[in-house]
Amino acid sequence: MEYVHYSVMRNEILEYLKPPTDRPAKMVDCTCGEGGHTFLFLSAYPNLQVTGLDRDSVIQQKAIKRMESFGDRFTPKNIWFDDFFTDYQDQDLDLVLFDLGISSFHFEESERGFSFRKGEILDMRLDQNAPISAQDVVNGYQEQKLADVIYQFGEERYSRRIARAIVENRKLHKIESSEELASIIYKSVPPNYRYGRIHPATRSFQAIRIEVNRELDRIEPALKGAVKALRSGGRLAVISFHSLEDRPVKWLFKSMAEGDDPTIKILTKKPLVPTETEITENPASRSAKLRIIEKR
Ligand SMILES: C[S@@+](CC[C@H](N)C(=O)[O-])C[C@H]1O[C@@H](n2cnc3c(N)ncnc32)[C@H](O)[C@@H]1O
Repeated sequence: MEYVHYSVMRNEILEYLKPPTDRPAKMVDCTCGEGGHTFLFLSAYPNLQVTGLDRDSVIQQKAIKRMESFGDRFTPKNIWFDDFFTDYQDQDLDLVLFDLGISSFHFEESERGFSFRKGEILDMRLDQNAPISAQDVVNGYQEQKLADVIYQFGEERYSRRIARAIVENRKLHKIESSEELASIIYKSVPPNYRYGRIHPATRSFQAIRIEVNRELDRIEPALKGAVKALRSGGRLAVISFHSLEDRPVKWLFKSMAEGDDPTIKILTKKPLVPTETEITENPASRSAKLRIIEKR
């Protein structure tokens, strides 16, 4: 079955991120994906140019196709968002958007083993040329390091048992598929945990994916670079999906908004969350949090 892709909190984002309409305006969509948000912005604001970043070239092709009718108002760049801002010299952006994490495409269509429900080769790399894949993590990391990854990036309380089971199993043969990994994890946890609200492999899979793509390390440098690249009065929005992503965003914004010389103003004292209607329509949006700032 073909999956349906929803862009989360679209109304809230369009309401807060309005470009000036009396001159050409610039936006960077740091996590363009297949371009759901970018498409909305380009449709709503004829004077807006959008640069759409994504390190995954496969999903980026979908965005390029989708944005064809906008011609040179859309510029795709196949780059990690932190690397993009390292080289960015100007202070000319009106809007910046981060919609963190991965897309339904990755779970449903990429065939890279992101989903514990599918029997796919364990890979999980957004950048297909990156040196480390999920197989390297699962088959190569020492038990303690594996347990730490699963604990830190998955907040998984059974991280040690899971790491132990992975190491025992990989002695027999290399763990190559997502299905096999999910089954090892399933069998390693206490029976009552197997029938909980989420599949017992959910947190471990999230952790391995974060490790492979170094997802959390990239957030803070990218946000600092993006704030620097905004014009005065420019706005930046971040959508996160779990507390590991939201925490660094929250603290960085707080530190930039305080002190003698604050650089930003926080527009969402509390993060905005999806409406009941949105959650009903797209249950995957239920854990989204949206924080927005304005550059002083
Ligand atoms: C949640 S999806 C974005 C969906 C998009 N906003 C939409 O409405 O279609 C996040 C996308 O960002 C990409 N991505 C994640 N982390 C990245 C990073 N550090 N640098 C560049 N792209 C990244 C992923 O490949 C994925 O396609």
